[in-house]
Amino acid sequence: MAGRIPQEFLDQLLARADLVEIVNARVPLRRAGHEFMACCPFHAEKTPSFSVSPRKQFYHCFGCGAHGNAIGFLMAYERLEFLDAVEELARPLGLELPQHAAGEQGASIKPLLHWLAQAERFYRQQLREHPLRQRAVEYLRQRGLTGQIAGAFGIGYAPPGWDALAQTLREAGAPTEELLAAGLISRDEQGRARDRFRDRIVFPIRDRRGRVIGFGGRALDGETTPKYLNSPETPVFHKGSELYGLYQARTHGAAPQRLVVVEGYMDVVALAQHEVWYAVATLGTATTAEHIERLFRAVGDVVFCFDGDRAGRAAAWRALDSTLPFLRDGREARFLFLPEGEDPDSLIRAEGREAFERRLAQATPLADYLFSELGARTDANTLAGRARLAELARPLLQKLPDGHFRELMEARLRQEAHVTNTRLRPPPAHSISPADHNLPLTRTPLRKAIALLLYRPELAQLPPQFELIRHDDGELGVKVLAELIALLRVNPNLNTAALLERYRDTREGAILERLAAWQPEVSEQEYQFEQEFRDIIAALERRGDLRERLPDMLLQRGSPRALSLEEREAVRNLGKAQKV
Ligand code: UTP
Ligand code: MN
Repeated sequence: MAGRIPQEFLDQLLARADLVEIVNARVPLRRAGHEFMACCPFHAEKTPSFSVSPRKQFYHCFGCGAHGNAIGFLMAYERLEFLDAVEELARPLGLELPQHAAGEQGASIKPLLHWLAQAERFYRQQLREHPLRQRAVEYLRQRGLTGQIAGAFGIGYAPPGWDALAQTLREAGAPTEELLAAGLISRDEQGRARDRFRDRIVFPIRDRRGRVIGFGGRALDGETTPKYLNSPETPVFHKGSELYGLYQARTHGAAPQRLVVVEGYMDVVALAQHEVWYAVATLGTATTAEHIERLFRAVGDVVFCFDGDRAGRAAAWRALDSTLPFLRDGREARFLFLPEGEDPDSLIRAEGREAFERRLAQATPLADYLFSELGARTDANTLAGRARLAELARPLLQKLPDGHFRELMEARLRQEAHVTNTRLRPPPAHSISPADHNLPLTRTPLRKAIALLLYRPELAQLPPQFELIRHDDGELGVKVLAELIALLRVNPNLNTAALLERYRDTREGAILERLAAWQPEVSEQEYQFEQEFRDIIAALERRGDLRERLPDMLLQRGSPRALSLEEREAVRNLGKAQKV
């Protein structure tokens, strides 16, 4: 995972960037009162429901619900990953990303990337010029690859000999230590530096920005082992999070709608050779959460393509397991099992693109795969079998995020296990998110207070007595409100966008973003916001007070009947009121 960017940097960035300008450069905006409007770039529409608030530095579509700050907009519109969006935003403002931000050791990775780029150049040049190049060229030809595709992926040839690359790069000034650190050379038993890749076809592995971070090298015959040799883990190359081909998939032509995950380098390249430009491969590792996160950052539809054999099935099940936590509504994962003995490379060469894409179109949805797999392990004809099915499914379904999809899966489990009324998980005690993400939030006073604060952060400076609200009274909403106020007291210049940024990818963040889309009634005046905010806070405080005093009061007076009418009303409301 990428390292963290210091909060102060993000605050500064979001204070200086202008969302109106950023959106307007991509989607022309028109002024409408205090806001700007356009037709939403994230769903098809004819009348504008996409609004940008210059004050909140926040956009919101009343049609499809898309929303976010400047970072979120660039991520969604340009399909950038978080760090890239931050960079994109920072560059025109002349702000430098702090050195450690990229999770890389700042300056020390620069030379490694430089030598890796030089190595790519060297290998490509060898494929064109080396006296023994013919074998490599013939190998690629016989695997059905044209020079054009080899060029698009930067495929090269590592010549035989011990140190062809090392010599060349040393002449260019590379210290041996840096070549070792980049994984380009290794030491043999006598301690001599040797090229890692010798007499192999090499596939450069690129990061999300297209920089070469490692290589995979394939032997030119069937005898040499290993068949594929990969770069070791280095400060710039982490097998568990990289996807071979993702850079090409994202940059070749229009942004892809779906990605297909295959097993090998050759599969990715062969598919591209047949105009399927949306394939990526894990690098000989199981599918990790980081892979899934990357995939869904780029597209909403992911197809896992595995061999039909036992190993393929096992790998698919692991992929399913890693995928579940990421299946928010609107995302889809499917599984395609290939006939025995075939891989995507052999299949597309035998059947062509159309047949392959037909297979993709018929890939098994994750839900069907999950239930058919569990169904095969249990006996639906017996009570015990059905109980077992529920038992196996429960921990899997619990990994799903809240949403329609999860509800549908739970309904399906009840149906498949013929059990009624299995509550898979009780709703969290202090849920601040309603089950249905598309329903408008009911306007509780607590939510209104948070919405007001997001609308006018300066309200946080108003009520000095607010400290009285205890953070730990167990209610998430109160805690968030208190947190926001405390945050704004310390950083009075934070705008709505910067506030929301602190909650990115959290449960609280999801609800805060929805509250940030709230619009005041037209008739409401500034002083009314202030009054309303004060009133809500005062009510919350009375509640806090009451809570604290209640045991004493009851003790002193002996029974609830001894309370005043007003006090009794307040006690009744303790439980139900103010839930966010
Ligand atoms: P496969 O053995 O399925 O090979 O390895 P393949 O992709 O079909 O390759 P070709 O068609 O024989 O050239 C799948 C992936 O597993 C990793 C590589 O990433 C490879 O692309 N692998 C395989 C290794 O890392 N080392 C090996 O020795 C073999
Ligand atoms: Mn193969």
